[in-house]
Amino acid sequence: MPTIIIKNLTFAYDGSEKKLFENINLTLDTSWRLALAGRNGRGKTSFLKLLRGELPYEGTITGVPETVTFPGGEELEVEDWKVRKELNLMGADPDIMYRPVETLSGGERTKLMLARLFSYDGIYPLIDEPTNHLDLTGREKLAEYLAGKDGFILISHDRNFLDRCTDHTLVITKTGVELTAASYSTWWENNEQRMESERARNAQLHKEINSIDKAIKQNSSWAGKAETSKNRAHASSKVAEDHFRRAYEAEKSRKLMSLAKNLKNRNEKKLEEKKSLLADEERSEQLKISGSEHHNKTPVILKDLTLLRYGEPIAGIRELIVNRGDKISIQGANGCGKSTLIKHLAGLGQEEGISVTGESYIAPGLKISYVGQDTSALRGSVSEIAADRRADKTLLTTILVKMGFDGNMLLRDTSTLSLGQKKCVMIALSLCEHADIYLWDEPLNYIDVYMRQEIERLVKNSNITMLFVEHDRSFIDNVSTKSCTPQSLRDNGTS
Ligand SMILES: Nc1ncnc2c1ncn2[C@@H]1O[C@H](COP(=O)(O)OP(=O)(O)OP(=O)(O)O)[C@@H](O)[C@H]1O
Ligand SMILES: [Mg+2]
Repeated sequence: MPTIIIKNLTFAYDGSEKKLFENINLTLDTSWRLALAGRNGRGKTSFLKLLRGELPYEGTITGVPETVTFPGGEELEVEDWKVRKELNLMGADPDIMYRPVETLSGGERTKLMLARLFSYDGIYPLIDEPTNHLDLTGREKLAEYLAGKDGFILISHDRNFLDRCTDHTLVITKTGVELTAASYSTWWENNEQRMESERARNAQLHKEINSIDKAIKQNSSWAGKAETSKNRAHASSKVAEDHFRRAYEAEKSRKLMSLAKNLKNRNEKKLEEKKSLLADEERSEQLKISGSEHHNKTPVILKDLTLLRYGEPIAGIRELIVNRGDKISIQGANGCGKSTLIKHLAGLGQEEGISVTGESYIAPGLKISYVGQDTSALRGSVSEIAADRRADKTLLTTILVKMGFDGNMLLRDTSTLSLGQKKCVMIALSLCEHADIYLWDEPLNYIDVYMRQEIERLVKNSNITMLFVEHDRSFIDNVSTKSCTPQSLRDNGTS
């Protein structure tokens, strides 16, 4: 297997002051199952593009074999029997390869694309976030499948998933890249330990700098005094010719001056050391949300509900009572009708021919805020979107800045943002809406671990009412007050 050699790689997008990569040197063996991790916007997807030669850069990248990307690869010809074999290995139904792509669920599309990708011999797969539409079992099966493969790069924010199927880890940090021959969790734990000891060293340095500062101040006031008395001594020497005293004062002043210089040097060194500490520390600012207080204590009631798409029954719900302040996790396997339910409640069903039978009470005048799964429709700058959505632009900007957006990202067309950044825009818009009920469909897809924790904290500690679909176990366990599982009515209502 070839070795990719990267020398002095430097790259920034046109018009962006921030360099995503600066003088990076790396040697990557293409037989590794390499995890590529890092916070949203650090340049993971861009790194894959650089390997494929799709972006101009400084430095050299050599030894990259022929690559194929996920998502993508639809244009390549593959032999059916190979795809079938890979689908079987994945534990997926091989017949999905004969179904029209539009009829496949997100998870099925992912599996088919990956099966095609691994049907090419001698091609190096570059896989960018494959887990998003997969439920827990789907992720486990895919991890198992990938663990049996040789040589790929895999981007994901799911630590557990990466641990199960990769043997090397490349992390893009705030200041560069770190490569280890270990799992992502091992890197994470080592990094936490390093940060902990850097924090302790930082506190120690802080103390030392303070005391040196104090000493400098004291010293310069002494030196000042010594200088004055030296001058005085000098003046009086004309009269008294006090030779010894003059020499003594001069010496004292010189010593104090040199001590001051010394202290200053020491201080500068410590400050310099302090600067390099914690440069990689990831911080998240606290977000806020304030839903409105709707007068209705039970804003939504569903009873014996059947959801239909173009007349076909999709899902059934026996009873769902939403009380103010509830945070309801909508659960169930891929394709059981979770998104259909959310779209119905959001009043967005018409487009997909969604209709209902049974009792579906939604309090009149209920203000709904919806975050859908798909980010591909985002267009225009943040202020254009704010105007379009009638959102408070200042509030939206404040939230996005807290989420790590800089001026350039706020001004640029949102279609050029990274996937996680796009999702942040959608969540930030929702946080601005002061709604009576929040309907979030897989809000954490593409969002990095740090931001996930912050969103989890925010929702958990607020009194908003929310219905959500999410596969992130920690979010479900920590946030939900109850759950609802639509029953799939496909296959004549038997599944
Ligand atoms: N065409 C572009 N012009 C300017 N900046 C861009 C462009 N495309 C991406 N960027 C910026 O470059 C940075 C890296 O983007 P990239 O998509 O590589 O990040 P990522 O690590 O894959 O993030 P995510 O986890 O959100 O997918 C981001 O800040 C993004 O906004
Ligand atoms: Mg990306």
